[in-house]
Amino acid sequence: MMYYVLIKRKSVVAVSFIAAFLCLIIVRLTNEVTFPLILNCFGQTSVKWIPFSNGQRQPLRTHYGYVNVKTQEPLQLDCDLCAIVSNSGQMAGQKVGAEIDKSSCIWRMNNAPTKGYEEDVGKRTTVRVVSHTSVPLLLKNPEYFFRETNSTVYVIWGPFRNMRKDGNGIVYNMLKKTVDSYPAAKIYVTTEKRMSYCDAVFKKETGKDRVQSGSYLSTGWFTLILAMDACYGIHVYGMINDTYCKSEGFRKVPYHYYEPGRDECEEYFLHENAPYGGHRFITEKKVFAKWAKKHTIVFTHPNWTVS
Ligand SMILES: *[C@@H]1O[C@H](CO)[C@@H](O)[C@H](O)[C@H]1NC(C)=O
Ligand SMILES: *[C@@H]1O[C@H](CO)[C@@H](O)[C@H](O)[C@H]1NC(C)=O
Ligand SMILES: *[C@@H]1O[C@H](CO)[C@@H](O)[C@H](O)[C@H]1NC(C)=O
Repeated sequence: MMYYVLIKRKSVVAVSFIAAFLCLIIVRLTNEVTFPLILNCFGQTSVKWIPFSNGQRQPLRTHYGYVNVKTQEPLQLDCDLCAIVSNSGQMAGQKVGAEIDKSSCIWRMNNAPTKGYEEDVGKRTTVRVVSHTSVPLLLKNPEYFFRETNSTVYVIWGPFRNMRKDGNGIVYNMLKKTVDSYPAAKIYVTTEKRMSYCDAVFKKETGKDRVQSGSYLSTGWFTLILAMDACYGIHVYGMINDTYCKSEGFRKVPYHYYEPGRDECEEYFLHENAPYGGHRFITEKKVFAKWAKKHTIVFTHPNWTVS
């Protein structure tokens, strides 16, 4: 009898060890993709999304969801206060360039220029988050983007079909050629896993499946998700909130500060209501406001009140 109990105990111990070991492997695997997934090893799996978890920061954080095109190394990025500068026409005439340039990291999107707009948007660019569809726009001026501003980190997001590395990803191929011509350029691409993760965050926050609802995430979405991982605090300049276009006396401005024409609010409504292929800018802004409530994110020009 004693012997039997002992064996039973031994096997319990063995099973616990195996469980603990599996748990370690899982933790290790999920660490490979920097997203804050919390796995509960001994119960059901609970997935918890914690944007901007201040407590667990280490200097020079490694972001495994973003891989260097030349070296295949993951992105290392650790910022104190980040300024995210919107491409919106709201930026015109704001004269916040000097304030923006004082931030430890300055984030811009797609091909938003600084030349000629320094007084409003600043001069420095630490990170430029770029949509796969905007890569050809950067390649219109490669000397500027990839030689003159070679201290800027480029993060290119895009679907697998364009970003695949087997020779069939047309955007990846363009980027590969770019780093061959401009070896100092720091170009990173999002991994397929990270893309699915960004979709999963959209589903979790809105209850809507991105693909089924016929929408595309915006560059702003990818920017905020990475910035929440890389920055202690975030100041977003020039982004409008979800009710801006329905508020009294809102400012009618162009969609981009560097291009005349296209009206910002018209563009927002067009996209929000497009049955297929639109960006859900307004829905996304609602989610950003929710994140700002919990984390150190401030939106100004125009100001958001998040309590
Ligand atoms: C990197 O940028 C600096 C500053 O614009 C420039 O002088 C230098 O030539 C660039 N280096 C390369 C290798 O392109
Ligand atoms: C917006 O917020 C900034 C910074 O918090 C403040 O200085 C400014 O007065 C505010 N502007 C308006 C119009 O409320
Ligand atoms: C959204 O923007 C409008 C217009 O600037 C403003 O009146 C409103 O207070 C803002 N709402 C929030 C929640 O920030």
